[in-house]
Amino acid sequence: MIFDLDLDRVRNRPGIKWERHGNDVLSAWVADMDLEVPDFITSAVIERIKEGGLGYGFYDEPIPVLEAFKTRMSKAFDWSVATSDVLRVHDVIQGLEWVLETLTPQDSSIVVQTPVYPPFYSSVEGTGRNWVANPLRETEDGWELDFNHLEEVAARNDVSALLLCHPHNPCGFVMNKTDLAHVVDIANRNDLLIISDEIHCDLVYSPNTHVPTASISDVAAERTVTLIAATKTFNMAGLRMAFIHSSSTRYAPLLKEIRPRMLGGINGLGQVATVAGWEHGDQWIAELVEGLDHNRHFLSALLNEHLPQVRYRLPQATYLSWLDCRALELGDDPAEVFLSRGKVALNSGLDFGAEGAGFVRLNFATSPEMLTMLVERMASAI
Ligand SMILES: Cc1ncc(COP(=O)(O)O)c(C=O)c1O
Repeated sequence: MIFDLDLDRVRNRPGIKWERHGNDVLSAWVADMDLEVPDFITSAVIERIKEGGLGYGFYDEPIPVLEAFKTRMSKAFDWSVATSDVLRVHDVIQGLEWVLETLTPQDSSIVVQTPVYPPFYSSVEGTGRNWVANPLRETEDGWELDFNHLEEVAARNDVSALLLCHPHNPCGFVMNKTDLAHVVDIANRNDLLIISDEIHCDLVYSPNTHVPTASISDVAAERTVTLIAATKTFNMAGLRMAFIHSSSTRYAPLLKEIRPRMLGGINGLGQVATVAGWEHGDQWIAELVEGLDHNRHFLSALLNEHLPQVRYRLPQATYLSWLDCRALELGDDPAEVFLSRGKVALNSGLDFGAEGAGFVRLNFATSPEMLTMLVERMASAI
């Protein structure tokens, strides 16, 4: 069982997740998982180091990590990409900032589906653009895009792009092909760029599937720039390696004009690890998703038992849960209360936008035992 973890080891693991608050606090905040990095990745990285291969590398075609990207996208998502349409970057958010700088006018506005991953706001603001919220709608059946509102904001003269979190962090919402076609149609009619952050693409629960935005039609491919990485899937965010993809005749040439030195040479070990993950990771990803699937249901049972006032909608993807704690009447920032009174570190919903008041984000990529302790501590805090 992939989430059968040595909890002492987890709680003493170096890195921001467990170091920030100290190990008497239970950490379920930042999007790192508590499980071990798979052996096929650590072996590949250690082998590289043992071979003394820490010099410059990977500049001449064929570049192994680009070949691995092409193979993985085809195999996992039936998405055919050309390696010449891919830029390597250090991380997804660096890629996002370059895309915003390069492809959208200064002072223009970018539509985000809120609540959303906090750097979407800070990167848009930091690059001198404005964000416009298109809040997700919660229905009986789950989250959905508000297409009427999207039509309205997309038609504004100041709007230059739609920024998608696909799958969605923190709501765990997955857009299907029909949703994507609707988004692409809106973008096309209003002449907008689509930026699709697909870093959580592997972590989707059946019967949902991940459909890359750019893959659904020629129009979608022409409109879309995709941001993606293997780092979330294999729990190796610290290795810093991500990709920008576009086959658009309009956008790809502009992206290729970004000076390589401004992107920086890419981390060799991150590339080795990414190749190893994509070459050997199919079975491990299947086990991971199975374990996470179990955890998302187990969390539901735990909350029903210990914190029935907390509203939790099973995510369709990701290992992140978006918990509505408003009925607990702990104010706008229940994460603060859970930390100070329960010694549990969660993400404050406020960081995800105005809709996050009274919400917390809990990372359930841990052992069932740890999840139980987390929820029990949360309950004891109130
Ligand atoms: C939607 C989304 N995009 C990007 C990132 C971060 O990616 P990176 O560390 O490669 O910038 C995360 C991390 O949790 C995320 O959830």
